[in-house]
Amino acid sequence: MSNAFTTHPLPATAGAETRSLDAGLIIDPSTGAIAPNVSMSVNNALAPGDGAFSADGVADLADLPYLYARWTNPTVRQLEQRLAALEGAEDALATATGMAAIAGTLLTFLKAGDHLVVSDVCYAGAVELTQRVLPDLGIAVTPVNMARLDAVAAAIRPNTRVIHCESPVNPILRIVDIAAVSALAHQAGAVLTIDSTFATPVATRPLSLGADLVIHSLTKFINGHGDVLGGAVIGRRALVAKIRGRAGVYLGATLSAQSAWLILRGIDTLYPRMRTICESAGAVATFLETHPEVEQVVYPGLVSHPQHELAARQMTVFGGMIGFRTRDPKAAAARLAERLRIVHYAFSLGHQRSLVVLLDTAEMMASTFRLSGEALEDYRAFASDGLFRLSIGLETAADILADLDQALTP
Ligand SMILES: Cc1ncc(COP(=O)(O)O)c(C=O)c1O
Repeated sequence: MSNAFTTHPLPATAGAETRSLDAGLIIDPSTGAIAPNVSMSVNNALAPGDGAFSADGVADLADLPYLYARWTNPTVRQLEQRLAALEGAEDALATATGMAAIAGTLLTFLKAGDHLVVSDVCYAGAVELTQRVLPDLGIAVTPVNMARLDAVAAAIRPNTRVIHCESPVNPILRIVDIAAVSALAHQAGAVLTIDSTFATPVATRPLSLGADLVIHSLTKFINGHGDVLGGAVIGRRALVAKIRGRAGVYLGATLSAQSAWLILRGIDTLYPRMRTICESAGAVATFLETHPEVEQVVYPGLVSHPQHELAARQMTVFGGMIGFRTRDPKAAAARLAERLRIVHYAFSLGHQRSLVVLLDTAEMMASTFRLSGEALEDYRAFASDGLFRLSIGLETAADILADLDQALTP
């Protein structure tokens, strides 16, 4: 049995929501089961003549029969096909975490002597990996505000192999013009990777805007229930095959079958969840703009967002993430942590429950971003002394509003 694509054929006219439910679906030939099986076997019996395989020299491990679960697994492969369909891509690799997808991708396309241009603000783990670990391996790294296209162009060098960014960026919700950055990357012969965790494929399709690879933390909106870690990198088959060989086989970043099954279950409701979440996020952002304790709200769907026009061009919905600033943020954070009853005061995002946390600018600079000069001013334009990062969940919007209101009011 080959683990190459064996998708249930869909009419060419099938819409995105239909594909999100159906792609990768393999009806179990022995039982007719429609829901995916959790295939727990670490190894699979080989057919006579299959021989012994070495990962080395195989162009695409996904072309081999299932033989060892660190390489490929039937349940994980169904998830990969579903993810590829969500992003309109040829293939996907599912990984144990979002960080494994980022690290596996960068360590596939970068070697000593190469150069990476990375967004100066993005997920803290990605910032710390690129700015602290990669230089130890002889990889030069230039952090840049990706919203300044002239700065991106100036940062590119003859040995730039990868440009990595997010849109909207975690945590300040700055938007990156993916089509424009992709033109710059391709002029330079570099691979553009977009971490689209905040947007989800429901809002933005980075590959259709010219990105080469899309990365997700599946831990967030795509699984959506706060009960499993996972990641993915999605794009052209030849690129994904390279990452599969390194990240899966040598770095051991493989996702487990149980986690894949849970994430497949999460994806079944991705579109309706995101519809509800985005609608509530719009209502909460609008409400917060009128709240006497709130000084600024950052939400791509608000006309007050400095890049609202770009967001409207690049996003079909504006996502579930909101940033807001209050007077005396530390006191407000203490009130939120103590008084919230519906929203949880906690890290992470993209769950069924709303979550909020204060990201103090001085602390973020000391621990992670280390920005100065214009880059720091650019950050402070969104976050000032501290930004509350609010991830909207599936509660009734009026309940989220009322809970935030009672907790914010001194
Ligand atoms: C934008 C973004 N990318 C990647 C990650 C890392 O994901 P994981 O925790 O699944 O490794 C996160 C985690 O918060 C994130 O927000």
